Amino acid sequence: MFRRCGLTWPPMAEILRTGVAADPHADITSHDTYVEGFPHGTFQRLRETEPVAWIDETDGSGFWAVTRHADVIEASRDYNRFTASRGIRIEEMDPDELEARRSMMELDPPEHTRLRRLVQPGFTPKVVATYEEAFRRLVRVVFDRVLTEQRFDFVTEIARELPIRMLCRLLGIPEEDAGQMVAWGDQMISNADPEYTPVVIDKVDTEEYRLLPFRAPAAIDVFRYAEDIALKRRAEPKDDIITTLLTAEPDGEPLTDLEFKNFFTLLMVAGNETTRHTISYALLFLQEAPEQLELLRSDLPGMSEAATEEILRASGVTMHFRRTAAVDTELGGVPIKQGDKVVMWYTSANFDESVFTDPYRFDITRDPNPHVTFGTGRHVCLGASLARLEVRVFLEEFFSRVSSYRVGEPDRLRSNFIRGIKHLPIEIS
Ligand code: HEM
Repeated sequence: MFRRCGLTWPPMAEILRTGVAADPHADITSHDTYVEGFPHGTFQRLRETEPVAWIDETDGSGFWAVTRHADVIEASRDYNRFTASRGIRIEEMDPDELEARRSMMELDPPEHTRLRRLVQPGFTPKVVATYEEAFRRLVRVVFDRVLTEQRFDFVTEIARELPIRMLCRLLGIPEEDAGQMVAWGDQMISNADPEYTPVVIDKVDTEEYRLLPFRAPAAIDVFRYAEDIALKRRAEPKDDIITTLLTAEPDGEPLTDLEFKNFFTLLMVAGNETTRHTISYALLFLQEAPEQLELLRSDLPGMSEAATEEILRASGVTMHFRRTAAVDTELGGVPIKQGDKVVMWYTSANFDESVFTDPYRFDITRDPNPHVTFGTGRHVCLGASLARLEVRVFLEEFFSRVSSYRVGEPDRLRSNFIRGIKHLPIEIS
C-alpha cells in the first residue's frame, strides 16, 4: 500500500513552526501556491502591514483580502454590509450561474434562516453526541482492517474513509455508496487538482458546466443520485435528514428540485472533504511537537478535546470564504466600495499574533483558543459539532492503539480554497 502512493521518505521536518512557503510575497490567488504549503510568510506580512489588502486577479478584477482575526469576525457577522448572496468563492459568477448553484451558503437572512432551520436540529451538539458510539464503532472497524499493515497511505486508507461513512449514515445513504460519494466529492471540491478531475477549473474551458456546483461535471452524477434518493424517500419516508428536506415547507412551499439537489450536494461535500484533511494534519502536527504528543498520550480522554481545538486552529482547512460589500463601507479603516469582493482568510486569522500567543507553536493546552476554523455569524459551520466529535474520537482511538508512528511528506492538494492533503505515507508500530 505504502509503495503505491509513491511519496518521498523520510519525512520532511517542521511544517507548522517554520511555516512552509515562508515567502512573504506568494501569490495567494494561485492554486499552485498551496501545493508548497500554506504561505504563512505572506499572510503574516499582510496582517502586519496591510490587513485589508487589495489583491489583483489575472482577469483584471480583484478582491479585498481580510487577514486579521478582528476584521474577519466583523465581516462574517455583518450580513447587512457584507452579503453572502453574491457568491462565497473568489470566482465571480454570472447571475444565472449564481441562481442555478445557490445553496443556503449563498443566502442572507431571512431566506438563509428558513433553510438553515430545516437541518439545524440534526446537527446540534446534543444530537451529535448521540452519534459518538456509532462513529467509534466505525473507526474501530476501519482500524481493524488497516492497522494490520505497517506502512500505508493514511489518507486513502483511513482519513478519507471515516467522515464520509458517518455522513452516509446521517443522511440515510447506503454505506456501499460511500466510495462513490468520496470520488464525486473530490471531483467537485478539488476541481483545481488534476489528480481528481480532468476538468481542471483554471486550465480548461469549463463553460459547459457553468450552471453546476463547482462547475464540475461530477455534479451531473450527484444530481442524478439526489433525484434517485428523493424518489425513494418520497415512496418510503424515513427518519433522516433527506426526508426532512423533502417534506419540509419552509415558506409554505416545499423545496424545489434544484434547491434540494444543491442542498444535498452541499451537505455531501462540506461534511466529507474538510474533516478528513483535519485528521491528517493531526498526525503531522503531533509528530512535529513530540512533547505535545506525549502530553496527549498521558491523559487521552482528558486532553483530546483541547487537542482537537488546537488541531482545528492550526489546520484551518477551509482557508477562506467570500462576501460582497452590499454598501459603501469600511473595514479595518480601509474604504470599501459597494460591489467589491471581500475575502475573509480564516486560516490567517487563526495565526493572528494579537490574539494567539506564539501562533506557530502547536500547543494543545492553548486556552482560550478562539479560532475561526468554522467561521462565525449566521453561516457558522453547521457540522462543527460533528467535525469536533470525529477528530476527538479519531485521536482517542488511534493513540490508544498505535504506540508509535512516523508520517512522511504530505502530498498537498492544488487549491486556493481547501488546505488539503491528498496522500500521507505512514509507518506505524
Ligand atoms: C473540520 C471540518 C470542517 C471545517 C473546517 C468546516 C468549515 C466551515 C466554514 C468555515 C463554514 C462557514 C462558511 C462561511 O462563512 O460562509 C462552514 C459552513 C458549513 N459547513 Fe462546515 N466545516 C467542517 C465540517 C463540516 C461538516 C462535518 C459538515 C456536515 C454536514 C459541514 C457542513 C457545513 C454547512 C452545511 C455549512 C453552511 C452553513 C450555512 O451557510 O449556514 N461542515 N463550514
